[in-house]
Amino acid sequence: MKSQTPSLKTGPKTYRVKSFGCQMNVYDGERMGELLDEKGLSPAPDGEDADLVVLNTCHIREKAAEKIYSDIGRLTKGKTQKKAPMIAVAGCVAQAEGEEIMSRAPAVSMVVGPQAYHRLPDMLDKAVRGERATDTDMPAIAKFGALPQRKRRSPTAFLTVQEGCDKFCTYCVVPYTRGAEISRPFNDLIGEARKLIEAGAREITLLGQNVNAWSGEDTKGHKVGLAGLIRALAKLDGVERIRYTTSHPNDMEDDLIAAHGEVEKLMPYLHLPVQSGNDRVLKAMNRAHTAESYLKLLERFREARPDIALSGDFIVGFPGETEAEFEDTLSLVDEVRYSQAFSFKYSPRPGTPAATMDNQLPRDVMDDRLQRLQARLNRDQMAFNKAIEGKSCSVLVERKGKLASQWLGKSPWLTSVWFEGDAQIGDLVEVKLVEAGPNSVRGVI
Ligand code: 5AD
Ligand code: SF4
Repeated sequence: MKSQTPSLKTGPKTYRVKSFGCQMNVYDGERMGELLDEKGLSPAPDGEDADLVVLNTCHIREKAAEKIYSDIGRLTKGKTQKKAPMIAVAGCVAQAEGEEIMSRAPAVSMVVGPQAYHRLPDMLDKAVRGERATDTDMPAIAKFGALPQRKRRSPTAFLTVQEGCDKFCTYCVVPYTRGAEISRPFNDLIGEARKLIEAGAREITLLGQNVNAWSGEDTKGHKVGLAGLIRALAKLDGVERIRYTTSHPNDMEDDLIAAHGEVEKLMPYLHLPVQSGNDRVLKAMNRAHTAESYLKLLERFREARPDIALSGDFIVGFPGETEAEFEDTLSLVDEVRYSQAFSFKYSPRPGTPAATMDNQLPRDVMDDRLQRLQARLNRDQMAFNKAIEGKSCSVLVERKGKLASQWLGKSPWLTSVWFEGDAQIGDLVEVKLVEAGPNSVRGVI
């Protein structure tokens, strides 16, 4: 099949990767960039056209998935940039709807799934010859071995340690788009972390769909879980902060909880999605935990690390959710007092069990519930920010603010902090938090 993209004849010189959705996609996007660098392309400067645009897509909710067709339309009609680029679609929509994209969008030259993007350079050769290529194989671990060394310079870095999911929550596409749970080998991860540190990383966030399901063998051949990996990473010179996301309540090992009290470099923050505060809904979601077991787990984290900031994910309007069941979610929120959280309207995803359940709820009910939930979550986020007012903490400077002397970074609890003064990107600065806002806190050096 011939592509209709004119730039194919010459071959792209510059590229832009646009990543949507989760942090795993951000990581994948960076790695695709590294592959393209090796192939001799260079990142298109901000504001300038790119010869190749990689849309690294997210399939988790309907809105996210539909966005790709409008993005392709804008790129081909000259609305995003002057000249229509060669287009590659990567990520979870590519995995789930690869064939449909190829037939619906003739301007797309390449479709590549999240487990196959190490083959992007070969696909590019084909595309330059005018052959459209699709690769949605799932060779899982093979991908990582085929990627170039890390070299992106940044004080904060993502490191994918685990991929895929075996939990099969009834609403979720991840087990279908990202495949079965796999853990990357311990030594590979220590090696990649060393490279990230050499390139200037001071904070490393370990990523996985079920990151706390990671397991491996350390250098001595001992079986270790995520806590063992974190303890080993903490021993590397140059790493100042370690985080991990996203965890599942059912994979939480005792040692990980203990590590929060023992490993100084492990930041006091936990993102632990609960989705609902009602046990019937949790069962229908196939979450395999209850509201009470979740709350008990959080209690243990708070015992290990009293100042730990808690975050979570919620879905409102799951099929059949009653008003009373939704109110159980509000009660759970009242009990936990999250420092920040993510909440979504249920979105039926093709191929998932929940999509064909009876009692899909009307949009207005979902809208109303989302608003009420978010009002509480915002209240608690503000309360958390207020509670840390007056404290001193370290801030890792990530970027410049709007004004010349302004700097932006994160507190240990992952709150955004801005301050004025002498600093540079990558500094760990001790600041006093003086003024809480809803989304950030002002600090002074
Ligand atoms: N509808 C709405 N939200 C969803 N999530 C996952 N699948 C769906 C869906 N079908 C949310 C969950 C998950 C987060 C990444 O996205 O809260 O934790
Ligand atoms: Fe999806 Fe559930 Fe797996 Fe999370 S644990 S990725 S919500 S199936």
